[in-house]
Amino acid sequence: LDGSNLFVVSNREPYIHNRQGNEITVTVPASGLVTAIEPILCACEGTWIAQGSGSADRETVDSRDRLQVPPDNPKYTLRRVWLSEKEEEGYYYGFANEGLWPLCHMAHTRPIFRASDWEDYNTVNARFADALAEEIAEEEHPVVLIQDYHFALLPRMVKDRIPHARVAIFWHIPWPNPEAFSICPWQQELLDGLLGADIIGFHVQAHCNNFLSTVDRVLEARVDWEHFAVRRRNHWSAVLPFPISVDFLEAENISPDNDTADERSALIAELGIGTTFLGVGVDRMDYTKGIIERFLAVESFLERHPRYQGKFTFVQIGAPTRSRIPRYADFQKEVENEANRINERFRRGKWRPIVLLNRQHSHEEVRRYYRVAHLCMVTSLHDGMNLVAKEYVAAREDERGVLILSLFTGAARDLRDAIIVNPYDTEATGEAIAQALEMDISEVVDRMQRMRRSVKEHNIYWWAGSLIGDLCDLRLGRDMVS
Ligand code: G6P
Repeated sequence: LDGSNLFVVSNREPYIHNRQGNEITVTVPASGLVTAIEPILCACEGTWIAQGSGSADRETVDSRDRLQVPPDNPKYTLRRVWLSEKEEEGYYYGFANEGLWPLCHMAHTRPIFRASDWEDYNTVNARFADALAEEIAEEEHPVVLIQDYHFALLPRMVKDRIPHARVAIFWHIPWPNPEAFSICPWQQELLDGLLGADIIGFHVQAHCNNFLSTVDRVLEARVDWEHFAVRRRNHWSAVLPFPISVDFLEAENISPDNDTADERSALIAELGIGTTFLGVGVDRMDYTKGIIERFLAVESFLERHPRYQGKFTFVQIGAPTRSRIPRYADFQKEVENEANRINERFRRGKWRPIVLLNRQHSHEEVRRYYRVAHLCMVTSLHDGMNLVAKEYVAAREDERGVLILSLFTGAARDLRDAIIVNPYDTEATGEAIAQALEMDISEVVDRMQRMRRSVKEHNIYWWAGSLIGDLCDLRLGRDMVS
């Protein structure tokens, strides 16, 4: 960073303080974004600006709304921004998650656009721009990384307030084609806001291309297809892919097979399900994740391969999310009903095919499942990257385990040794379960080794390094676009 300071903006904060009686507890939210960004902030000792959301959040900050985190080993500053209930309703639940989220995912949930949500979205973006301006006031070379679809208007607002700031926005979700995007009544404003950034990052080239096509069609701006950049109001924005990843910690010593087998038996005993083979899925309970299609694949697998009845159990860890939005509350019920139906159909004795663990789990708890599951299923109907796929690979120090991965995730481009499936084809996905369980062990190891090499080389530091490196280079006067 060369003497510059790093500022990250995201909606979700990395630590939430809640009061329970006399005690204050700290939780880390279920978000791939938080998992990904935290190591970078720790390494750079920068500032993270996010929405305060816990019942004890106000009690734990200083007079300037700041505190040092992580709580047990402080490394960087968290600056909290407060939103009113109405603002949160309109900006977060409304425009971001009932509008932009379904707009950008091909998950066939119709986006909802309300003028009042749009107003709140504007107000909240401006609130964050003010907080950022305060934090940056004295900085000579501020570097600002804005995270995600909650803040499409922020790059332009930041540039207006602090023209010398280097600004990147990373869009963690897909960008749809121009026809799909055009149903948003405020598409011009969103694009103009984003084009305030020096770099607009997506996970994959296809999303960059969709974005550039949308700009080409909607705005009066020059799109330079050779350099993947846009010129608007005398300012260039580079539009580039930066596939996000996870921290990859090298194993000190690889646990022998029998250790994993013991851990697995212990976990199965705790669950009280009497099974032999374990599959795992880890998601927020979101309709884009293909959880119901995954259960249907398990059902199809048990129908077509009855010898696994009584022997294969799929554990779905599902963190509740955005439950105030009707579509999410309905989805949660649909998932439970489907799991119950399939369990009723097949259950015998202690055994059942699906275990649905409907609560948030800590990283450590999730890692236990990753480490022992014979297979992990990531069957998103559409997903920017999907970090669960990479977390599973990173956790498999024993070089075992098979990943079944939707072709509609960004991760499918990086992890080519997964069994790639179309999640809408539930029979074929069911066959992938059989293929995974019956795969020759040498092939399992070969595939896992190759995937581990890929995640290790392209880890989260590589992601942040490329993004920040490109951002600094651009501003140091290297003429990227001629
Ligand atoms: C996705 C989004 C993130 C978001 C996360 C959790 O990964 O890209 O920006 O933080 O979901 O969702 P939530 O609405 O709980 O923050």
